[in-house]
Amino acid sequence: MSPLAHDDLAQVGALLTTARLGRTHEHHQQIGSTNDRALEWLTGGAPDGALVTADAQTAGRGRLGRPWSSPPGRDIYASVVLRPGAPSAAFGSLALAVGVGLCEGLCAVFGDQLPTLALKWPNDLLLDERKLAGILCESRWRGREVELVIGFGLNVHREAAQFEPGLQATATSLAQHLESHQRVGRAAILAALLHQLELALERFFAGGFAAIRSRYESRCIMIGREIQVEQGEGQRIAAIAIGLDDDGALRAQPREGGPSFRVQSADVWLA
Ligand code: BTN
Repeated sequence: MSPLAHDDLAQVGALLTTARLGRTHEHHQQIGSTNDRALEWLTGGAPDGALVTADAQTAGRGRLGRPWSSPPGRDIYASVVLRPGAPSAAFGSLALAVGVGLCEGLCAVFGDQLPTLALKWPNDLLLDERKLAGILCESRWRGREVELVIGFGLNVHREAAQFEPGLQATATSLAQHLESHQRVGRAAILAALLHQLELALERFFAGGFAAIRSRYESRCIMIGREIQVEQGEGQRIAAIAIGLDDDGALRAQPREGGPSFRVQSADVWLA
């Protein structure tokens, strides 16, 4: 196969159509974690929209302290600095807005070539019910202003055998769902993701999660499905996901009956 056009993440700047995101960009062939670097850069005064990308991470981090598999040259590892200004109560649902932006970015690039692309509450993108991408948002306060880092990892070119054995049954990549002529370079994908992300974040910061709730729900694979919700100490409750509240909490109806309840930050599985 001839080398894919626009695959070099270092060159994403030339493809950007954003006003803010990625206009300042730092690329690393290898780094511990792009989120760690973005947090460090924040301390050093990184501007709003500053982007850190890497070809490989040696200490990529996921939610709940889990590692994020980050081998060289196949995927997108990216973190963006946001300085939204005035504090707001809504940052708890920021990852949901990022999910909407990433999903819409992939749809802008691939159209209907990824019919099973979906959001899994709260932080994942799935293809065919396997994990395609994850989102890790981190925040800090500087006086009365909040500073945010949004990080995402997207599996792009990895073949099934290139995932660690423990991930082979649950993870996937774009390559596994596209013909070779449909493949698109990582920098071109990232530029489209940042474009849609910027639009989704603009709506989110102006109107909170409520302003993009219907966009999230329409792409959320869990709505109307049976889920298992972690209840602590290994216990799970079976419920039907019925929607999202305006603050981003998942609303679920116990399968055994009784009132619906809110799920705010728990592990949730599709049954
Ligand atoms: C998750 O699904 O648990 C979130 C995964 C987030 C991974 C990305 S890769 C780029 C950025 N740098 C990190 O260390 N983590 C995020």
